[in-house]
Amino acid sequence: MSLPSEKNLSALLDERRTFPPAEEFRRRANWNDPAIYDRAAKDPEGFWAEEAKHLDWFAPWQKVLEWDAPWAKWFVGAKLNVTYNCVDRHAHSARRNKAAIVWEGEPGDSRVLTFDMLEREVNRFANTLKSLGVVKGDRIAIYMGMVPELAIAMLACAKIGAAHSVVFGGFSAEALRERINDAKAKVLITADGSWRRGNVVPLKASADEALTETPSIEKVVVLKRIGKAVQISMKPGRDLWWHDLVANASDECAAEPMDAEDMLFILYTSGTTGKPKGIVHTTAGYLVGASTTHRYVFDIKEDDVYWCTADIGWVTGHTYIVYGPLANGATVLMYEGTPDVPDRGRFWAIVDKYGVNILYTAPTAIRTFMRWGKEWPAKYKLSSLRLIGTVGEPINPEAWMWYHETIGHQRCPIVDTWWQTETGCAMISPLPGITATKPGSATRPLPGIAAEVVDAEGKPVGPGGGGYLVLSKPWPAMLRTIYGDPERYVQNYWSRYPGKYFTGDGCKIDADGYLWLLGRVDDVMNVAGHRISTFEVESAMVDHASVAEAAVIGKTHEVKGQAISAFVTLKEGVHASDALKEELKQHVVMKIGAIAKPDDIFFTSELPKTRSAKIMRRLLRDIAEGRVLGDTTTLADSTVLAKLKEQYKDEG
Ligand code: PRX
Repeated sequence: MSLPSEKNLSALLDERRTFPPAEEFRRRANWNDPAIYDRAAKDPEGFWAEEAKHLDWFAPWQKVLEWDAPWAKWFVGAKLNVTYNCVDRHAHSARRNKAAIVWEGEPGDSRVLTFDMLEREVNRFANTLKSLGVVKGDRIAIYMGMVPELAIAMLACAKIGAAHSVVFGGFSAEALRERINDAKAKVLITADGSWRRGNVVPLKASADEALTETPSIEKVVVLKRIGKAVQISMKPGRDLWWHDLVANASDECAAEPMDAEDMLFILYTSGTTGKPKGIVHTTAGYLVGASTTHRYVFDIKEDDVYWCTADIGWVTGHTYIVYGPLANGATVLMYEGTPDVPDRGRFWAIVDKYGVNILYTAPTAIRTFMRWGKEWPAKYKLSSLRLIGTVGEPINPEAWMWYHETIGHQRCPIVDTWWQTETGCAMISPLPGITATKPGSATRPLPGIAAEVVDAEGKPVGPGGGGYLVLSKPWPAMLRTIYGDPERYVQNYWSRYPGKYFTGDGCKIDADGYLWLLGRVDDVMNVAGHRISTFEVESAMVDHASVAEAAVIGKTHEVKGQAISAFVTLKEGVHASDALKEELKQHVVMKIGAIAKPDDIFFTSELPKTRSAKIMRRLLRDIAEGRVLGDTTTLADSTVLAKLKEQYKDEG
């Protein structure tokens, strides 16, 4: 394990531009007193308990935290229901007719669901699930595009106490199958397809392929999103249409009182092995973390229209499209498609059309917009925006400044939020009414969060230093375990520095104590904000009949942050060709999904290895990025590397 390249790091730490909150913004902000940091640090449990009062509880907790490292229980003994908090209580208040979900489909169709309408839809679907035999504790897989029914399905599960496992609609049939089987899901909820860049994503067809070997699945509910433009088949006895089922379902359904620590959902993410990890989040702590951070980081106000552009298939969508904002009674905008349909101004057209006040997106999207040119956003007013945010990967200062000027019109504070599937909610981020921001820094841990940068021995490093980011105290929205694999939970996150959560990210601290995230220090890549393991892609490659061995690295990429590069040795007698490269790329798409497709594949007769036969990816990264090679003393055969370097120069 090594820290990421030092390139530009000293430049980063020299960043002198600071952007304090504008006085007008500061005055109205939900949090504007810096004393909150000290108060929360002195008594984190008291701090979280205070914030938890924003939720409605069926029974109070006896204890805020029970911490038997690394096992946490928050709000011990309390009872509540997540959907009751996100929907019902608003539907029965002055917010009844307030828009909860404002949805825009890629082809231009749109829908608005008020809290009252959302409650009825959720109840109908919750009753539908019950009629299919779903009971508290069951796992339900969801494989859909970005339509309101995706949120409705999640909320319906939570209402009756079933745990959902949402699988991103861009994943392949095989990836879906693996996740269904790991969770032993009883029902799959999917759609005939979804729209993406004018094409149909054939969700049902992929689901059918996945379902050939998923013994736990009893029923499949299919939403009709596309209709005539896609051909699907329905398996009698197994597949049922969403609209048929809900037509006969009652729109009343009592919320199941859940224990604070009951599982709310599983969400799979990539780790350092080929097998995805089922990250387990529970009821109370997750909702307290999601709603609190949403309230303060995004400074949400009653009349705001809030838009997070992530897909709900990732944690960002779970926490900041569905649970955080809805718990706060906010109006959430949801968009189905891509930013370039019908043209490259789509996002900005949506901002103007709905008067979006808060926009939350990813650095990779911002870099894409930069490339498309200022003329696209310049066609729109963007005057409704008052706060903008980013998530998913480090944002380079150039992209930050472009976002600040071209989208935020130098008026909107930027919140660069660092967090992970595992953390459940934002951990490191500015508070827009308090923090002076610096382009490229996520600034400091939020109140109630304890983060440190430590060296290899676990000793905290001082200002100006760099090392590994760890979280040194439990927090409510933390993952509780890896589904079905508690050993791996302990091993993965808590064994490197006992008692501290190891994030897998490198980090530097500047003289003001600001944190600068440097990317992953393990074998996890971040490709266009998507987390992909090198091993997953390698396993997909060696699964192909022609491949003997593969080593995959994330290579620095101007827009995507990282791009996937694969070094491949072929089996005896296989002829290397461009056609084979293309075939291998398609093989990875088939095994994992288009997000994992390698940008380039490089055939070689040997891979650089240590004497104990470990592939030295670090050196492959140096080669791919044209850097001076790092330490090569542990190589078994140094001539392999010299040859590879020459060959890469010629072909690469
Ligand atoms: O490397 C960090 C990067 O994304 C990883 C977590 O990925 P995932 O679980 O898919 O969740 C992404 C959305 C929360 C982290 O380990 N990352 C996320 N946000 C930032 C970031 N790196 C730098 N700055 C960020 N703001």
